[in-house]
Amino acid sequence: MALITWNAEQHETKVAFADDEHKILFGKLNKLYDLATGGAERNEVGQALDDLIAYVVEHFAHEEKEMQAKNFSGYAAHKAEHDALVGICADLQEKFGKGEADVTEDTGALVKNWLDSHIPTFDRAYESTLNS
Ligand code: FEO
Repeated sequence: MALITWNAEQHETKVAFADDEHKILFGKLNKLYDLATGGAERNEVGQALDDLIAYVVEHFAHEEKEMQAKNFSGYAAHKAEHDALVGICADLQEKFGKGEADVTEDTGALVKNWLDSHIPTFDRAYESTLNS
């Protein structure tokens, strides 16, 4: 079963690029989770982890560029949220690469919970500004 399923009630921002990218991001997270909890080879898990983190960084950069272009007042707080998750991801990526950490059910839950909290609060808040 998928770890996270996009649904409009919980995740829709009504900003087209963000909704599209969130769906892709959820797919990459589900793929990583399925590999990591399904006994896949470590190198396969590592590739899925790298792919997810690269996409997270790309998505955050896209949102930040759009927020800056519209002088969105919540930019600084939003970017700080992004930076915090990127920091957690970078730490996990480094430790995974050294064999000091694994991708576990808890890892998946952490990222899922972060998205389930961030998208309805921080991402939805930019809708009127980015669609103006
Ligand atoms: Fe869609 Fe602010 O992350």
